[in-house]
Order: sequence, then structure tokens, then C-alpha cells
Amino acid sequence: MKRRQPAEPYRIKSVEPIKLLPRHERERKIIGAKYNVFRLDSADIYIDLLTDSGTAAMSNSQWAALMMGDESYAGARSFRRFEAAVKDIFRKDYVIPCHQGRVAENIVFSTILNPGQYVPNNTHFDTTRANVMHKGGIPVDMPCKQSESIEPLPFKGNMDTARLEEFIREHGPEKIPVVIMTITNNSSGGQPVSMGNIREVSEICHRYNIPFFYDAARFAENAYFIKRDEPSYSGKSIREIVTEMMDAVDGVMMSAKKDGLANMGGFIAVNDEGLYERLSELLIVIEGFLTYGGLAGRDLDVLATGLKEVLDFDYLDYRIEQVAYFGNVLKEAGMPIIEPTGGHAIFVDAGRLLPHIPATRFPGQSLTVEFYIEGGIRAVEIGSLMFGGEDKETGEVTTAPKELVRLAVPRRVYTNSHLDCVGDAAARIVARRESLPGYAVIREPEFLRHFTCDLVVSRAEEKVRK
Ligand code: F0G
Repeated sequence: MKRRQPAEPYRIKSVEPIKLLPRHERERKIIGAKYNVFRLDSADIYIDLLTDSGTAAMSNSQWAALMMGDESYAGARSFRRFEAAVKDIFRKDYVIPCHQGRVAENIVFSTILNPGQYVPNNTHFDTTRANVMHKGGIPVDMPCKQSESIEPLPFKGNMDTARLEEFIREHGPEKIPVVIMTITNNSSGGQPVSMGNIREVSEICHRYNIPFFYDAARFAENAYFIKRDEPSYSGKSIREIVTEMMDAVDGVMMSAKKDGLANMGGFIAVNDEGLYERLSELLIVIEGFLTYGGLAGRDLDVLATGLKEVLDFDYLDYRIEQVAYFGNVLKEAGMPIIEPTGGHAIFVDAGRLLPHIPATRFPGQSLTVEFYIEGGIRAVEIGSLMFGGEDKETGEVTTAPKELVRLAVPRRVYTNSHLDCVGDAAARIVARRESLPGYAVIREPEFLRHFTCDLVVSRAEEKVRK
């Protein structure tokens, strides 16, 4: 018999009303947003699955911690509590708070990366990629071979270690200031990384004297998968697994808006005192003093509490199983999804669902727009709109390897009834999928165009004027 999804390991103390606008209103709103869901107001959305970042519901302990916030500019008690929690869980000696993950990336790459150097990663998240490029570096994705498979294999988030070593030999360790492992691998379907793979990458990096860092936004979810799917770890606690994970790396960058169970926050943690001092200089210039880094004291207290709560096995079991439940709901509705389901989101393969729309006309965006029109649901395209563009040298249009739509599940926010509603909308979209149109970009910025570009409905053969 299939295992039943575990019930929420909490009861609900506070609620926030949501409302579904009538369909004609939704159509009007998406046209007004130039078919870009980042431009929609949250008041116009029924179920918001845009991201699991900064969208968690806080626990009663976190709300209580908020009241303990010490807002002193320097040396606040809140910082000391935050610092102690980070040191304890991530096992690093020096902690630099910052207001979100991309600032951690900016500070790290501004400090250790020289133009023309390479940064290998299992798969860069879009802000990580943008930050590497912004400092003149070259981001190199090295996903493992099984990430290409449509079989539901475990640990598809792994890095290709043979490729990493080959790359280091070819370019030389002096051209690689850091190797990054993104746990879980967000851009590759939220798939986890195995401890075996972490150990191998750590061994390779240390053999060549290259610092090894995590992009640790979803570290606790990754630890849960190691416990569940990696033989020899089933008897270990989440805490023990996290300790082993952290001992394999020299540094951590974290967007704590995910597994920090908080609405804002991030940090860098390192063992090297000299590096800490260099990183701190830029922190003070762009974020704030060493003991608050762009956050209020109360935020630091919320994080200190959330980072411990997220290690609770019952919470993680419910969380990962809820995402798996959602995957089944969408599959039953007829949507092709990436399997196995990962930690924080379901990724629908819009390329497979909408073969009549070429990558240059963004099948993922088409499905994203339709989720809003059909059910007031906000998802996000992770395909050629996010990762494609124009090759600066040749002027050729580039597309992404996959045309995905991500439906991220905020932590402790929606019940399975909400997810069933998304399934109903998905079934209605599948029934009329051949009628879905393509889109074209008519205005875009230089970096991260998906956030702010304007789109129009467009057929493949049309020439589009920007
Ligand atoms: N790294 C990973 C793996 C992420 O998923 C994100 C953010 C960041 C870094 C950047 O962190 O937003 O705090 O500056 N991911 C969000 C998402 C935005 O929706 O997946 P940030």
C-alpha cells in the first residue's frame, strides 16, 4: 500500500484570507502585466507558487523570538544568538550576516574572483550565475549524467566529478577560486546531492587546494533525502547528517529565506580568518555593520530559531512528502513532471506538454500564463525565458536545455486542498493544451530578463520588433 502523506506536524493559529478573482478579471490582469507574472499583484493571486523563498509561515516560537530582537547597532544579543546557531549547525568559525542569498554571492565573488576565472557548480541558480558573470567570471555547470535521465533516479542533483577533475586539470586550479555545490540543486529540478558525491567533490577540491563552498539554501531538505535514499544514512539523525555535510566544505553561502524558515535573511560562514576579514570589508560598505548585515535584530532572532526548527525530522518528512503528493496530483492531471520529485517544488516539463510551441516562443511561459488564467495560480518559467537570450558575439538566439515551469511550495503555508485545486486547473489546461499560444519578448534588461521583461502573444513564424 502506498504510504499516506504525513499530516502537518503543527496546528494552525493564524490565517490569511485569499480570494480567486473572476476569470475575466484574471485575463485583464495578465494582459496588464504584459504576460509577466512577476508584475502581478499578490492580491490578484489565489495560490502563489512563484517561490518557496521568503514565503514560509513562522512558528509561534519564531514570533516569540521576534519580540526578543535586540536592535543595537553593534554587538546585539540577537546577532550573538544567530551567530551561535550558525556556528553550531554549519560548523564554521566566522559568520557574516546579510539580508539575502544574492548579497552573500556578491560579497564572496567580489572578494575571491578575478575576471576570466571559472566557477564550477553542480548547477548555478540564476542569481549565482549572474553574480559570477557580473564580476567577470565564467560560471560552469557540471550536473551529473543521471540528471538527463527521465527515470526517477535518486540524487540527480549531483555534480559530475569526472568532469570537475578534467576541468581542473585542463584549466589549472589557479583559474578556479572556488567550487560550489548547490544543495538542493534548484535549477536542476530541486534534486538532492548525495553524501557520496559531496565527499568526492570535497576530496577533489582539497587535493587541488581549491576552496569548496555550499550554496546551502535548502540544506535541511537535502539532508532528509540523504537519510531517506542513501544506504548507510537511514539510521543517522538529520543533525548528524548535516554535521557530516558541513564538515566537507570550507564555506557556506546561504539564502536563509528557504530553510531558515524566515521571510528575510542570509549569511556567509567560513573557517578562514583572513578570508573573513576580507569579506567583512565589503559587508560594511554595501550591507551594514558586522553584527547585523542589513537585517533587523528581530530578523536575526527569527533565523536563529528557524534554522533549528528546520532540522526536525517530522517537519521535513511532512514537507518532502507534501511536495511528492503535489507531484502525483499534477501527474494525474496529465502533466509531465520531473521525477523523482525534489525538495521544494514540482517542475512541469512544458516542452513535452506543448510540443507545438518552439523553445524560442517559450512553452514554459505559455503554461505559466495559463496557470494564472485558469486558476489564479502563480508559477514561474524556468526555461528559455530565464536562461536563453541572444549570443552577444553571433547575435544568435540561445535557448535553455529544458523548458520547465516551477510550482514551488511555500513552507507550512498551503494545505493539500490548495494543491488539489492546482491539480484541477492543471487538468483543464491539459484538456485544451493545443490551443495554448507562444510568446515573444518585446522589451528586456541586460541581466535576469525574466523578472522585468514585457511579452506579447506570438506565433513561431512571426518576426517580433523590440
Ligand atoms: N541560491 C539558490 C539555490 C536559490 O534558490 C536562491 C534563490 C538564491 C541562491 C538567491 O537567494 O533570493 O535570497 O537572494 N532562490 C529563489 C527561488 C529566489 O525562487 O528559487 P536570494
